[in-house]
Amino acid sequence: MRIIVADNYEAMSKIAADNIQEVITEKNDAILGLATGSTPIGTYEELIKRYEEGKIDFSKIRTINLDEYIGLHPNHNQSYRYFMNEKLFNHININKENTYVPNGSAENIDEEAKNYDKIIENLGGIDIQILGIGNNGHIAFNEPDKALNVGTHVTSLAQNTIEANSRFFESLDDVPKKAVTMGIGQILKAKKILLLANGKNKAEAIKGILSGKITTDNPATMLQLHSDVTLIIDKEISDEIINCN
Ligand code: F6R
Repeated sequence: MRIIVADNYEAMSKIAADNIQEVITEKNDAILGLATGSTPIGTYEELIKRYEEGKIDFSKIRTINLDEYIGLHPNHNQSYRYFMNEKLFNHININKENTYVPNGSAENIDEEAKNYDKIIENLGGIDIQILGIGNNGHIAFNEPDKALNVGTHVTSLAQNTIEANSRFFESLDDVPKKAVTMGIGQILKAKKILLLANGKNKAEAIKGILSGKITTDNPATMLQLHSDVTLIIDKEISDEIINCN
């Protein structure tokens, strides 16, 4: 595992963008696995800037997102499809038909989940997967549990995830309680994984990734099984980890 400590959020975002740009430079039709949430926003801003400067061409790029809330229409302003359009796709030369986000308002959501794995397979697999991490160690919406799922599936959000995500909604009650998410097995199939984390509330979860132990209580610990993971954390997290030891 490659561990990079960035001075701050801006530096973390630039390093993440460097890694993504490198993959696109090598393969102009790369499959990017994308995440939502507050963590990758700076990375997407950096990618937009590089597109505007003529440094990255997204015309042949395909993207596949990790997850979506169940019950939110793609046009809902808190849906992850809406987020991706607003934060990235509307500002670059990507063909939106080549961008995939699970449809959280599909009539048959289990079918939607199954098809999502087929889409990934048909695309030929993910070249680089961007991940954020929950305070509880969730990646995508694979929450701590007795067992973790391999493929894309429907899941219930942990109470602390609902609370953490309520900052984007008008009230706690408005936060969807279920999501459709890629499974851990699917994430581990990506050729490269880039996990970004900033802020000391993520330190405990990150410690797990560095512990040499794997536990379903911290799903992100599974990343230790992958041979090409780059962890980009900010100084706040590294200071917190060092101070606790
Ligand atoms: C989002 C996702 C989640 C987030 C995580 C961290 O697509 O899969 O696992 O990465 O909840 O969210 P933020 O970045 O808002 O702290």
